[in-house]
Amino acid sequence: MNNLIEKIKQLKKQCNAVLLVHNYQRDKVQDIADYLGDSLGLSQQAAKTSADVIVFCGVHFMAETAKIISPKKTVLMPDPHAGCPMAEMIDVKKLKELKSQNPKAAVVCYVNSSAAVKAESDICCTSANAAQICRSVQKDEIIFIPDKYLGRYVSTQVKNKKFILSSGFCPTHAKIMPEHISQAKKSHPQAKVIVHPECRPETIILADAVLSTRGMIKYAQESSAGEFIIGTEIGILYRLRRDNPAKYFYPALEQAVCPNMKLTTLEKVLWSLEDMETKITVPAEIADKARTAIEKMLSM
Ligand code: 13P
Ligand code: SF4
Repeated sequence: MNNLIEKIKQLKKQCNAVLLVHNYQRDKVQDIADYLGDSLGLSQQAAKTSADVIVFCGVHFMAETAKIISPKKTVLMPDPHAGCPMAEMIDVKKLKELKSQNPKAAVVCYVNSSAAVKAESDICCTSANAAQICRSVQKDEIIFIPDKYLGRYVSTQVKNKKFILSSGFCPTHAKIMPEHISQAKKSHPQAKVIVHPECRPETIILADAVLSTRGMIKYAQESSAGEFIIGTEIGILYRLRRDNPAKYFYPALEQAVCPNMKLTTLEKVLWSLEDMETKITVPAEIADKARTAIEKMLSM
């Protein structure tokens, strides 16, 4: 194991590579991160890094976003099969239909989407800034894609705008049902309940706080509470426990595991650096249009 980590470190140095890791990755992959964070933090890092190579430990839309923001850099995915099913739930054809049915609406696109869909959108958002981005949009109508649950939650936080939602959702967060929260609350009555806005509305309503993964990390650190029930992908519990050794964290649902996030392993990170594979590419005409929507978000 140490040998593996040593080799990764050596190769990283040789290629001037940086390892960007999402909060849902395996514990061992989190441990070797140069930057560990949420979708927004990872895009910000991709924009400002001086490295030549970005090894992206997350899912495909995240690596694609990094490549769009930093087109001159080599962006590698240790396992290119790590997709996001939610991102597949809308395509350009469906988006164009929504646009022609709602010609006065602006399109706000969750980063969990393909580059081609981003290219047809006005502005991107992540779960950390979705409400802020929607409030900033000048138009009164918003087509929010692809997550219907995040879109619905954001619509409760933004006044005087009409939301048109599509039908996407995250299969991992959709597994977390209100019964799981009620059960966990029975076992840990003092615990604060924190859930991700990708959860179902009936689950969200039972939470003390609805937060992106970066929001959860901040909340747990700053809260005077000592126990927390966490309604999101369970990978984040490793970091929460590591950062807050005196506090207790319980998963709302132990089975809330994103199989795609778990495809990346230390071995695959090493092979990725050895072979400079798999390189993420985005056709220039799509990347140029998608970059406008991503940069608008990052400038806020
Ligand atoms: P965050 O932006 O909160 O890290 O979430 C990304 C994601 O894919 C949630 O399922
Ligand atoms: Fe996609 Fe859900 Fe996995 Fe996040 S947790 S990457 S939204 S499938």
